[in-house]
Amino acid sequence: MKISENLKSIVIQIIKFLPIKNKNLVRFRIRNAFINIILKLYSFNPYSKLSKFFYYSLSDKYANYKDLYNLLGHLKKRDNPKTILEIGIGGHNKQYSGGYSLVALSHYYYNSKIYGLDINEKSFLDSKKIKTIQGSQSNEELLEKIGTKNGPFDIIIDDGSHYVDHQIITFQNLWKHLNDDGYYLIEDLSGSYLTRLRGSPELEKDKNLITFFSDLNHMVNAERLLRKWLDKSKNYININQIFYFESAILIHKKNYDSPIAGADEDEKSNDYKLKKDSDGNLDIPDDFD
Ligand SMILES: C[S@@+](CC[C@H](N)C(=O)[O-])C[C@H]1O[C@@H](n2cnc3c(N)ncnc32)[C@H](O)[C@@H]1O
Repeated sequence: MKISENLKSIVIQIIKFLPIKNKNLVRFRIRNAFINIILKLYSFNPYSKLSKFFYYSLSDKYANYKDLYNLLGHLKKRDNPKTILEIGIGGHNKQYSGGYSLVALSHYYYNSKIYGLDINEKSFLDSKKIKTIQGSQSNEELLEKIGTKNGPFDIIIDDGSHYVDHQIITFQNLWKHLNDDGYYLIEDLSGSYLTRLRGSPELEKDKNLITFFSDLNHMVNAERLLRKWLDKSKNYININQIFYFESAILIHKKNYDSPIAGADEDEKSNDYKLKKDSDGNLDIPDDFD
């Protein structure tokens, strides 16, 4: 039984007949209050799953990516993340609409601040735990600003425009703003196979995300790679795991407790260590260029 769905339609019916000026705002407030109560109650369930938080919050993540989010919820424990960024808040340009997944994330990851980026204004969702930012994920300057000001993030979710070039730009600009042991998730890869979403049915690398990431697959074995291959994708040598799902991808960043060693061309030596500098950035020596 979809409790939240039923409550939603009851609320809509009641508000219809009330003499209220801003019905959309009232509807949002009541809906949000109900969802918050349901999620708070569900939080007490010791077997609670991340996907169920999306279910109760009415986010379509439950229907579309149940297994993916249950895996994420299992790998990233509830008390761990301190900062999460989701691109694409939902509701598009509809007033007082969207934010379902931000609310779900704020209950599951109860220690975390949740940032949401959307091309449309969504400040009606702002609270102690949730902060919204208006702007496009194709704006590299903005992404850098968000990363520097609000990051680094423990989880980044790209559920925005779903244009392939946007997804690639966002990954290229935000990967460095993901914490070690962090997770980067991209939803809706169907655009990679559709020209109208600037994807490539011909599977070209810069227009198809699966091809783009296939190229980076070897990074999960960075310690065994010849230095010349590390050199080719040096910004992504800290990819630890890549999980492929139907229409989605989940990437895990290495934990830098263990440094990466690149093998020499003659395959004898393994003495090349990549470390972090004092600011916590990857220390890539000059001879990598
Ligand atoms: C599929 S909805 C997000 C749903 C939400 N994450 C959820 O699970 O409930 C996509 C959102 O991305 C936003 N969007 C579209 N183009 C964008 C862009 N270039 N940058 C940022 N957000 C964008 C839309 O306004 C819309 O609200």
